[in-house]
Amino acid sequence: MTISIIGAGNVGGTLGRIWALKGHSILFGVRNPKSEKTLRSLSDAGPSAQVLFVKEAAARSEIVVLATPWESVPEVVFQIADMSGKILVDCTNPVRPNPEWPLSQGTSAAEEIAKRLPGFRVVKAFNTLGAGSLVDVTFESMKADGFLCGDDTEAKQLVGRLAEEVGLRPVDVGGLRNAELLESLAKLWITLAYQQGIGPNIAFKLLHRF
Ligand SMILES: NC(=O)c1ccc[n+]([C@@H]2O[C@H](COP(=O)([O-])OP(=O)(O)OC[C@H]3O[C@@H](n4cnc5c(N)ncnc54)[C@H](OP(=O)(O)O)[C@@H]3O)[C@@H](O)[C@H]2O)c1
Repeated sequence: MTISIIGAGNVGGTLGRIWALKGHSILFGVRNPKSEKTLRSLSDAGPSAQVLFVKEAAARSEIVVLATPWESVPEVVFQIADMSGKILVDCTNPVRPNPEWPLSQGTSAAEEIAKRLPGFRVVKAFNTLGAGSLVDVTFESMKADGFLCGDDTEAKQLVGRLAEEVGLRPVDVGGLRNAELLESLAKLWITLAYQQGIGPNIAFKLLHRF
């Protein structure tokens, strides 16, 4: 599968490296594909990964993974708005205000993105655990959960399989209207890790009793 990763930092860079190892074609979409810093940081993503401008990477992929800071999302959305029919995986967390797209209660980053990209099938995923844990999602012999939501069942199943390739157990949280819950879960993660001092080596797991 050809996957573009827009925002090749902690989250995007890590997901791209993992999926490249699993045999996917990874197209990193960046602001400056000639930047030595960017090329150096992605040099371990394997020979098949390419570094392109955002628009070209997105245009050539079936799945667009959005992993930029929330403040950069309007700019990225503007660049890809005419590419309908793709799956967009929103990994962002609106942790800092975005003056261009202020968020009110009762909505979420993912829903605002979906509103502006009506031809895309948006799935919220990979936003509820730390980027550092994506390389090893096993905690005391248990796999962390990869919570995801979206309105398109097929798109969610596909993103669920990508989550499994990362090692996560996918948990479907329902429609995109529930993205607000996942963005709140991320805020809980940040609070526990950094304000409560537990540190980033934590993840959420849904426990079942059968
Ligand atoms: N870090 C975590 O543990 C974590 C976990 C879950 C979700 N998240 C969320 O995931 C997103 C990414 O977080 P991160 O920690 O990976 O951030 P990061 O390490 O700062 O990486 C962000 C990347 O986005 C790129 N970028 C910024 N604006 C861009 C634009 N307009 N076009 C293309 N690329 C652009 C930056 O590239 P430049 O070099 O050009 O600036 C950088 O490579 C955020 O929304 C965050 O809230 C983070």
